[in-house]
Amino acid sequence: PAKMADSRSPVVDVHTHMYPPEYITLLTTRTAIPLVRTFPGSPDPRLILLEAELPLLEKALSGECSGQLPGRPLTKDYASLPQKLHFMSAHGIDISVLSLANPWLDFLPPSTAVSFAQTIASSFETSCAANPGKLYFFAALPLTAPIPDLLAFIPTLLNLSHCRGVILGTTGLGQGLDDPDLLPVFEALAAASLPIFLHPHYGLPNSVFGPAAARGEYGHVLPLALGFPMETTIAVTRMFLSGVFDKVPSLRMILAHSGGTLPFLAGRIESCILHDAHLAAEYQKSGKDKKRRTIWEVLEEQVYLDAVVYSAVGLKAAIMASGEWGSERLMFGTDHPFFPPVGDDEGNEKWESVGLNRTAVAMVLGEGSKVGQMVMGGNAVRVLRLDEE
Ligand code: URA
Ligand code: ZN
Repeated sequence: PAKMADSRSPVVDVHTHMYPPEYITLLTTRTAIPLVRTFPGSPDPRLILLEAELPLLEKALSGECSGQLPGRPLTKDYASLPQKLHFMSAHGIDISVLSLANPWLDFLPPSTAVSFAQTIASSFETSCAANPGKLYFFAALPLTAPIPDLLAFIPTLLNLSHCRGVILGTTGLGQGLDDPDLLPVFEALAAASLPIFLHPHYGLPNSVFGPAAARGEYGHVLPLALGFPMETTIAVTRMFLSGVFDKVPSLRMILAHSGGTLPFLAGRIESCILHDAHLAAEYQKSGKDKKRRTIWEVLEEQVYLDAVVYSAVGLKAAIMASGEWGSERLMFGTDHPFFPPVGDDEGNEKWESVGLNRTAVAMVLGEGSKVGQMVMGGNAVRVLRLDEE
């Protein structure tokens, strides 16, 4: 464990991604997103991930020069472990809980999913083992594998001593996270005490964002700022409505980007349930004498939120939505290597995206305060057992 000279608890980044070299190699062989590709007139290969990046990709591939290339430059921040360690020391981060970035293993054919999931997990385990006390990871699940193989994969993660949970997108087995067929997976994760780090990728349909966005005029703002958080909000609300949290009470989730918009919308979700005639009738029919569990209770009992929300207003909402001891359920993160400095700040050691999240914690909880330190790392150490090798 990273021992601090004083009694200050370590700074932990629970939201920090990498694409191991094996994953990047796979992306360079692909013709559909996600892919890595070099374009004429640009030195860096580009990493193209999102559906929202398709219009510009098609333009670039058809030879039409719009002056704007699709995706983002694939810098060494995405795949290099030394660069991750450098980023950590430049930002005073003592421990990182690494995760594969989106879209994880979602696009793999069923036949190779498990073996590639093993390759990626071993790669992370090796990186962590080489940096004792500094690195842990969330494993990616081979969701396209046959369910028995997927279920057999989960307990094997317990043999990887630095694995502290799994990172999960919102598609599940193809039908979302309220799919009854996914229940055995949630049960297996809960039984293994592996929390789910839920992370968006698919966003909202491009049509929602309009033609100017398709022409690239708004950059990545709409899909990243709005599509991502709505996707997370919808996924968790669907899980809640389907009763997953009641069916698997020992399931624990960490929601990316402070739960998307869940803290802000939880009251409205509750009110819509309360005023829904269909739901009321169904509840009566089920003859449940037990009081219905509210989304507030689920947030307080089964959900943790990261603190990747970039403002004091959002962070306050996230803490308030997380119950009486809300500040014990929030965990600092950076989303590195995404949101690097641009323009004049390019090449800066210090990333503004990190500073915004750190400042929000200081503003809401007080610089260096006990609770501030909990959010900056103490909570992650406790929840993810980062004091155990
Ligand atoms: N963009 C992505 O594709 N993923 C992230 O995690 C953040 C930004
Ligand atoms: Zn992320």
